[in-house]
Amino acid sequence: MDERPIQLQVDDIHLSFGGVNALMGVGFQVYKGEIFSIIGPNGAGKTSMLNCISGRYHPQRGRIVFEGREITNQPPATRAEIGISRTFQNIALFKGMTVLDNLLIGRHIHLKTGFLKGGIYLGPCQREEIEHRKFVEDIIDFLEIEHIRKKIVGTLAYGLQKRVELARALALDPKLILLDEPMAGMNLEETEDMVRYILDINQERGITVILVEHDMGVVMDISDRIVVLDFGQKIGEGTPDEVQKNPDVVRAYLGAEDETFLGR
Ligand SMILES: Nc1ncnc2c1ncn2[C@@H]1O[C@H](COP(=O)(O)OP(=O)(O)O)[C@@H](O)[C@H]1O
Ligand SMILES: [Mg+2]
Repeated sequence: MDERPIQLQVDDIHLSFGGVNALMGVGFQVYKGEIFSIIGPNGAGKTSMLNCISGRYHPQRGRIVFEGREITNQPPATRAEIGISRTFQNIALFKGMTVLDNLLIGRHIHLKTGFLKGGIYLGPCQREEIEHRKFVEDIIDFLEIEHIRKKIVGTLAYGLQKRVELARALALDPKLILLDEPMAGMNLEETEDMVRYILDINQERGITVILVEHDMGVVMDISDRIVVLDFGQKIGEGTPDEVQKNPDVVRAYLGAEDETFLGR
């Protein structure tokens, strides 16, 4: 059916917090190079699923395999090293630092010399430092944030902070990027910019995207495939067309005029 190699395989994930079942037997696969969206109303388990993939949460049952390697119990740092990076539903940046420093820190997580040890400017370290700076400058160019590179993150408008967070995730040079509501709280123009950046990240840089987003217009426009969650269970999966025609999905959400789900 699909010729592309499977990059991420998620099998039968169960995750609960005390008595709350956040995910109950959810599984899907993501092909290399696609834009794959996870949708569903508030509390459906979307962020929990991203947390399982990024290593923040460890499911009680199930398996996650990335590029042939089982990562279910690997810590987040290992997953970042092998090419999984993310943004957060609530922006997670060092607000008191400049844009450039936030990106350099994102990049330094990668450094063999380490962030703290990397402060010693000797031969190979210095060369490595220059390479990392080049990489970061390239991302700054790519996301058109040159004008704010020396600005303190906390002083920036919300939409720009979201873009900086995307830049920080890209600084890790990921193969797979997880975006948790990247357009939330944005105006129309900022949303259009973000859509363009996501498409560029995917098409120009070849990065696989897993997107959690409430803006159904955006999701239906740019996704290759979509999985639909409801109360921790998968209730639908397929192309945007298939999902919109899926009676279970229509019954549960699209027809239910769920204001939150429709992003209003
Ligand atoms: N760290 C946590 N501790 C306790 N309950 C949690 C935690 N994270 C998520 N949950 C619960 O799991 C369910 C799914 O949450 P979440 O994954 O954030 O949903 P979504 O992102 O789809 O809105 C919710 O009932 C939520 O309250
Ligand atoms: Mg969420």
